[in-house]
Amino acid sequence: PNVIVTDVEGQHSSISVREGEILMEVLNENDFEEIEGVCGGIRSCATCHVYVDKKWLDKLVDKHQEESELLSGLEAQQANSRLSCQIIMTSELDGLEVTVAPMED
Ligand code: FES
Repeated sequence: PNVIVTDVEGQHSSISVREGEILMEVLNENDFEEIEGVCGGIRSCATCHVYVDKKWLDKLVDKHQEESELLSGLEAQQANSRLSCQIIMTSELDGLEVTVAPMED
């Protein structure tokens, strides 16, 4: 599958991923600086924050309570915020569009 990523400057890129890959790791490997993934994907850092294009939100697995709590503490939170470490790429997510969220102060 492919994921279409918009960076904080508004530049789009299409990235080819393998099924089962974790979006946070994909973003990390592709040098999106704002995606640090400090905690390694255990829902405790929120440095993997992305905005998911609204038409894709329903296709993602529901948020774990810890994800909701972490996101609600972010200044840059929006209704379509997700932790990219909780998004596992599948063929159903081919064409997923996400925007990298700005780093928190
Ligand atoms: Fe830490 Fe996602 S990488 S919460």
